[in-house]
Amino acid sequence: MDISVTARRADAPDVVFLVDLYRKLEAEMSAIHPMWPRADGLDEPVDEAFLACLGDSGTRIYLGEIDGYPLGFILGRSRELLVHEAGVRVAAIRMVFVEQDARGVGVGEVMRDTLMEEFRSTGHQLFDSHVLPGHRLAKNFFEAGGFAARSIIMHHSDLGDGGRRIRAQFLPPAES
Ligand SMILES: CC(C)(COP(=O)(O)OP(=O)(O)OC[C@H]1O[C@@H](n2cnc3c(N)ncnc32)[C@H](O)[C@@H]1OP(=O)(O)O)[C@@H](O)C(=O)NCCC(=O)NCCS
Repeated sequence: MDISVTARRADAPDVVFLVDLYRKLEAEMSAIHPMWPRADGLDEPVDEAFLACLGDSGTRIYLGEIDGYPLGFILGRSRELLVHEAGVRVAAIRMVFVEQDARGVGVGEVMRDTLMEEFRSTGHQLFDSHVLPGHRLAKNFFEAGGFAARSIIMHHSDLGDGGRRIRAQFLPPAES
């Protein structure tokens, strides 16, 4: 049976879907590194953060849908380069997530390509994406889209709670 995989711009009524998807992304990323929800995710309360993103002219959020039902999201943000690169902007994919059961059928790819086309239409030619070290799934996904690593963040915590904690495999919680 054919399925329809599409991406559409998120709007305020979609925040309920976005928060649900974000919580699943947060759980998955936190299992790889505990700094993700503290430094790389969204400010709490997350619903307000999404609303602020939707109202920000430099930020774009798309929902990925199968047969019209939202099963993933992507968030990208435009930013300026340094002063001596006046007028040049880079679009950063800050986060992307697809529900476990909907992976591998192109939802991520459609969202990534749609977001990049949108940024290209406003003059962007440079794109970054944020991937945790050791996260092969996400690395493969972005490499398939033509991305290559250009930077890695090294982290140290005096508190002993933010250091290295990488699990290659995330095991989703069992269905209740
Ligand atoms: C990364 C992620 C968004 C990919 O979404 P997806 O819908 O499964 O990806 P797609 O089906 O569109 O795959 C696109 C390409 O990515 C690559 N890819 C996707 N899943 C892969 C896997 N399990 N193994 C290897 N490559 C994979 C493939 O090259 C694929 O192209 P192909 O179908 O022609 O082989 C999804 O796995 C996810 O949500 N992961 C957890 C969240 C995450 O890591 N986010 C990134 C950091 S915020």
